[in-house]
Amino acid sequence: MCGIVGYIGKEEAAPILLEGLSKLEYRGYDSAGLAVFAPSGDIVIKKAVGKLENLYQKTENGSAVQGVCGIGHTRWATHGKPTEDNAHPHEGGRFVLVHNGIVENEEFLRNKYLSDVEFKSETDTEVIAWLLDKFTSSGEDPEMAIRHIMAEIQGSYALAILDKTNPDVIYAAKNKSPMLIGKGEGFNMIGSDSMAMIAHTNMFYEINDGEYVVVTKDGVEIYTEYGKKMEREPFKAELDLSDTEKGTYPHFMLKEIEEQPSVIRRIIQQYTDDDGEMFIDENIINDINESDKVYIIACGTSYHAGLVGKQFFEKMAKKPTDAYIASEFVHNMPLLTEKPFFIFISQSGETADSRSVMVKVKEMGYKTLTLTNVKGSTLSREATYTLLLYAGPEIAVASTKAYTAQLAVLAILASKVGKEYDINLKYELSVAANVIETICGERENYKYLAEKYLKDSRNAFYIGRGADYYVCLEAALKLKEISYIQAEGFAAGELKHGTIALIEKDTPVIAVITQENINLNTRSNIKEVRARGAKVLVISMRSLSLHRDKIVINDVHELLTPLVSVVPTQYIAYYAALSRGRDIDKPRNLAKSVTVE
Ligand code: AGP
Repeated sequence: MCGIVGYIGKEEAAPILLEGLSKLEYRGYDSAGLAVFAPSGDIVIKKAVGKLENLYQKTENGSAVQGVCGIGHTRWATHGKPTEDNAHPHEGGRFVLVHNGIVENEEFLRNKYLSDVEFKSETDTEVIAWLLDKFTSSGEDPEMAIRHIMAEIQGSYALAILDKTNPDVIYAAKNKSPMLIGKGEGFNMIGSDSMAMIAHTNMFYEINDGEYVVVTKDGVEIYTEYGKKMEREPFKAELDLSDTEKGTYPHFMLKEIEEQPSVIRRIIQQYTDDDGEMFIDENIINDINESDKVYIIACGTSYHAGLVGKQFFEKMAKKPTDAYIASEFVHNMPLLTEKPFFIFISQSGETADSRSVMVKVKEMGYKTLTLTNVKGSTLSREATYTLLLYAGPEIAVASTKAYTAQLAVLAILASKVGKEYDINLKYELSVAANVIETICGERENYKYLAEKYLKDSRNAFYIGRGADYYVCLEAALKLKEISYIQAEGFAAGELKHGTIALIEKDTPVIAVITQENINLNTRSNIKEVRARGAKVLVISMRSLSLHRDKIVINDVHELLTPLVSVVPTQYIAYYAALSRGRDIDKPRNLAKSVTVE
């Protein structure tokens, strides 16, 4: 969702801000803007609706806006439409600022303090700018005013603030929205994501909720909301610029699909100790063992990984487990068992729906584990434990490598909890990585099939049973989010209870068959839809395959089939979207990291 970048130093700020914003495009946005202190001392603000390209044009690639201190923003509309007025930065008297997050009590604050203000936008952000102006006009210095707004605002924010009276400082403040400070030599930066700054520095200060920061070109001072100065060392990010670039790939999604074998190998390496044994922190294992049920909480693709995780825990560890959609769980919490253990799965570690559940279950005193791709992310910092996915930055909005990474880490975890289960997971995961590599070698086949089956269809169905059904849910989500084809994943045996009414001549039905115990059942369901005119494409494991099956995957351990069977479906989604000319990496209406509920 929204992205922030700020720069203060000796170089021209605007090109740096634009470049930083381009690295944040993947998060999803619908307008962008920047504000720079001009040499005259005025703050120049430029905004544009739509693609960042429009802001590049408006600022002549940044050259039309001079100055060495500025802030920039990409906005994903929440309060008010994506218009230029609503785009950030926002000005309120003495202050110009950009904001990620939501001010929940904005109405109250408008009425209490700002009844005389004529607002230019419909945003909650403008309220913050005017509040700062109000508080400084009544005698507070800027830092006091920032502490004051931090005390007043209910909700989430990452803020980068310019004070018109002081071109030598950018203020920042954070609560429940991600933010980092980038440390440079003779410059410093602010970003909602390290990616926005990685071209300039790989040293970052972590900022905690309830802290504000005074950033100058030579210094970074961090304070609590009560004004206590904090001492903090910067950390070095394990990320380099090449991780954030497509290289020779036309899209990040394709690059990320094809990174999956190396991601699985990296996970094996990261979770193997010096004796060559796979390991997981014993405290996590003990806590799960002591619990009477594992509750997996997640959204979207991560939720689909959680469903497979349920199977891992129940089959490998004999531990009752359920996966829940976070946005449902938070308002309709099921009756909990006596000793629950909570696992949060989140690629970004920032998903607001999952975080709401985290806050709730922590208040209830339960221990939590987060599986995330982003070290230091909110869900990681707030959990009792974290297991990292080591997938490298996932830029495409459609999650691919993070899903397989989630499955791999869940499998390692479940195998360590279920010590009795006989599996050489290190070996089996390596086999899966090799099989994915073979799958990636057949992309032309998936391109051909996607065009043949999906090019002109208005809908499509994925069917499967058990673990295959879970993969079907993920496959359908992938297809719909990037190709905009209405796609659904169904439990194959459930079709005849209603859904089969939707099958007509040439309706595409993609069946996934990887489990021996359901092979014949799903094959019967295939016959049922074929009899009603469906065009059926079968994805099966080699040992179960029939000659008509269009995609045949080399065998892997039967518990690990979701890691491999999902890959052709990712390609199918990719090529279906490509054939329709979709914006694959940045599909409409979607954001990479969903930081609002
Ligand atoms: C996946 O392709 C989606 N973009 C989306 O469903 C995503 O998985 C979901 O928003 C959860 O995100 P998270 O893993 O970062 O929490």
